[in-house]
Amino acid sequence: MKENRTHKITLIPGDGIGPEVTQAVVRILEATGVHFEWERFAAGAEAFEAHGEYIPATLYESIARNRVALKGPVTTPIGGGFKSINVTLRKRFDLYANFRPIRNLPGLESKWPGVDLIVVRENTEGEYVGLEHEVVPGVVESIKVITEKGSTRIARFAFEYAQKHGRKKIHSIHKANIMKMSDGLFLRCARKVAEEFPSIQYAEHIIDNTCLQLVMNPYQYDTLLLENLYGDIVSDLCAGLVGGLGLVPGANLGAECAIFEAVHGSAPDIAGKDVANPTALLQSAILMLRHLDEMAAADRIKKALEQVYSERKTLTRDVGGTAGTNQFADAVLAAMG
Ligand code: NAI
Repeated sequence: MKENRTHKITLIPGDGIGPEVTQAVVRILEATGVHFEWERFAAGAEAFEAHGEYIPATLYESIARNRVALKGPVTTPIGGGFKSINVTLRKRFDLYANFRPIRNLPGLESKWPGVDLIVVRENTEGEYVGLEHEVVPGVVESIKVITEKGSTRIARFAFEYAQKHGRKKIHSIHKANIMKMSDGLFLRCARKVAEEFPSIQYAEHIIDNTCLQLVMNPYQYDTLLLENLYGDIVSDLCAGLVGGLGLVPGANLGAECAIFEAVHGSAPDIAGKDVANPTALLQSAILMLRHLDEMAAADRIKKALEQVYSERKTLTRDVGGTAGTNQFADAVLAAMG
């Protein structure tokens, strides 16, 4: 019999809709009977107000110790202010692989039923290194960093995942016609890794054409391998194919630690109104349960979630229902029995 151990998890509820969706997800996780011990931390503006630090040292220590975190969205100021908490955590723990599976939920009408895409985004390099400076007034340079090491390891992650999970095809998405050196290096690394995996088809598409192809016929893709910024943009587009940002999960994975978080942001337009859809974070929590080898609990939540969507009685507003965040969580709990 499986030992019933306690999982210590660093919990960052975040801000905006973060606390609402996190609370709903924690309730559902606790109903599985898996034992969790949550180490809760504020991050971003809220943490700065309380402790004078955007990311408290104790939060870094907690993630390093527990190696697994569940995170709600954190607002990043636009055009100034502090550095993104997400980017900082991903860099600090070298969470180089951003993994975003895109699938339809039953009961939700979509122009594209049966989508089954995996988006693998490089998570530490590209434009996100944050190297920007003003050369002279009116001229700013932003540096995009692509390395052989970073490109090779994310390509290897994508191919190993594909091989392990029976995926057939990987497309590298690029703009190497314009960024000949940086995207060129990314492609050369991907091609080299592809040679080690002859059973997986390998192809390359230019990023702008990819956006067109995705909205015209997403079925032609299986697994997308992208640099950081392209992955950020394309994963939101892919979320739109299956019903929106309220649904799609994500994981930031490194050799040592993993942080599970939804693709969406803090959604200030709907924060504090009990209308946010907690499904995206709940699906991220299912990925977390699988990472913790809690397969039965993961399957139980997945089945309950699919039942709630199939019945269409208690859905949130973003997917055409009228239920609030808590009501939706109650419906999932009821379906878990
Ligand atoms: P957003 O993802 O917060 O919102 C985009 C649209 O999707 C909004 O209309 C929002 O209402 C809707 N939406 C998002 N999540 C939803 C949910 N769970 N249920 C129902 N509707 C949902 O993107 P936006 O507005 O560009 O960013 C807001 C803030 O979030 C920014 O400060 C941004 O930097 C931050 N952000 C944080 C992320 C993270 O912590 N991982 C990721 C993306 C953005």
